[in-house]
Amino acid sequence: MQEKAITIKELYDELKQGKDLLKSNPVYIAGWVRTNRASKAVGFLEINDGSAFKCVQVVYDEKLPNFEEASHFLTGACLGIRGEIVLTPEMKQPFEIHAKEILLLGNVSEDYPLQKKRMSLEYLREIAPMRPRTNTFNALYRVRSKLAMAIHSFFQENGFVYVHTPEITTNDAEGAGSVFSVITDAKDPVNDFYGKPVSLTVSGQLHVEPFALAFGKVYTFGPTFRAEKSNTPRHASEFWMIEPEMAFADLEDDMEVMEGCIKYCIRYILENCPDEMKFFDTFIAKGTIEKLEAVLAKPFRKMTYTEGIECLQSAVKAGHKFENPNLTWGVDLQSEHERYLTEEVVKGPVFLTDYPKQIKAFYMKENPDGKTVAACDCLVPGEGEIIGGSQREDNYDVLKAKMDKIGNTQGLEWYLNLRKFGGCVHSGFGIGFDRLLMYITGVANIRDTEPYPRTSSAIKY
Ligand code: 4AD
Ligand code: MG
Repeated sequence: MQEKAITIKELYDELKQGKDLLKSNPVYIAGWVRTNRASKAVGFLEINDGSAFKCVQVVYDEKLPNFEEASHFLTGACLGIRGEIVLTPEMKQPFEIHAKEILLLGNVSEDYPLQKKRMSLEYLREIAPMRPRTNTFNALYRVRSKLAMAIHSFFQENGFVYVHTPEITTNDAEGAGSVFSVITDAKDPVNDFYGKPVSLTVSGQLHVEPFALAFGKVYTFGPTFRAEKSNTPRHASEFWMIEPEMAFADLEDDMEVMEGCIKYCIRYILENCPDEMKFFDTFIAKGTIEKLEAVLAKPFRKMTYTEGIECLQSAVKAGHKFENPNLTWGVDLQSEHERYLTEEVVKGPVFLTDYPKQIKAFYMKENPDGKTVAACDCLVPGEGEIIGGSQREDNYDVLKAKMDKIGNTQGLEWYLNLRKFGGCVHSGFGIGFDRLLMYITGVANIRDTEPYPRTSSAIKY
């Protein structure tokens, strides 16, 4: 077994709980050098062990047997340090460690790709395996982990059952035709592994609906894959989605849960990741914390698609230039339109509801007007859509007619039959996890929120 190091997080937690840190002496810590400054007689190391956003300062002097060697340890080297905690209440950091022994656990070569100076996010994207050692990505991936926990806490506390839906499937749930085929034998795909064409899932929704009609409230949370060639800061071909589904819930109930979930996640991250959020607020997107606090303070606005289109048409009349100026009723909104509504009109999150049925998926509940469906998208500033949801079509005949028309009934009889095996009003939604993380941290590109992003024509690691 390796010697157990005390972590920087444990030290800060003890301090917060009012414990006497000196009682932990002597201590052993292990981590990576962020900086090392040394003069003839004394040196200072900033060590990060990844347990917390904060580093710890290690002071060493000539009494150290390997002082000369230590004064040359480079950024990135992995060290084990034995020493004594010294309280420094008058300094920037409340304590430091005076080293008695410094062990070089892993040396670093001259071509270490991280420099002490600030590096661009684009450059860091090219060295994804090393990114987690930088402040930005150390903060981002810790928040990502906490955000996953927030999602589970929210749904578990509210009585939802977590369901693992399959990654390999025979259906294109959204009917958008952007699936990745899964084949093992390209020469004979017909007689391949499953004996029929299969693909990676674009959504777990169809598989989770039957569980909602058994458990009442359920959710999936897992990776989803879309072969869309959208080269934007918001599209990845592999991303994580949370898909709750609820029996006895209409679109209004659905939106209440969406809003509750987003607010819960924001509160959770502000409470549990204060250092990381302060960092984002200072270095990544100024005003992020204030923005999030304002979101918590007010109910989300709601606007129908029809009202949204009218707003956009007025904007055009008033001289606003969109790249896509066609805003006749029935068109699918582009990201620039969504962003205009959430950024310029509402200045905060907004639910856009009741979309024309021809631009939305087959499973959505048709409204009595015969033209629109009981669906909504949640739009936020900086991004546009982060959630898509709807009440589901629960009328067997209406759904069958729609499925027959697009030709996807075969193979989905089990889905359709839910409507005659004790069906009920039910609704659900899908939150793009990576987009939610972008929104909360202010990080502008989905390629940075994912540890190893996959986008069209870009897969390096
Ligand atoms: O709006 P979408 O396509 O909805 C569904 O998949 C439904 N089955 C959800 C449901 O009702 N259960 O996708 C849901 C969310 C979007 O709002 C967006 O946040 C995210 O998934 N998303 C993507 N995120 C990153 N990259 C992509 N290519 C994405 N496509 C969708
Ligand atoms: Mg959508």
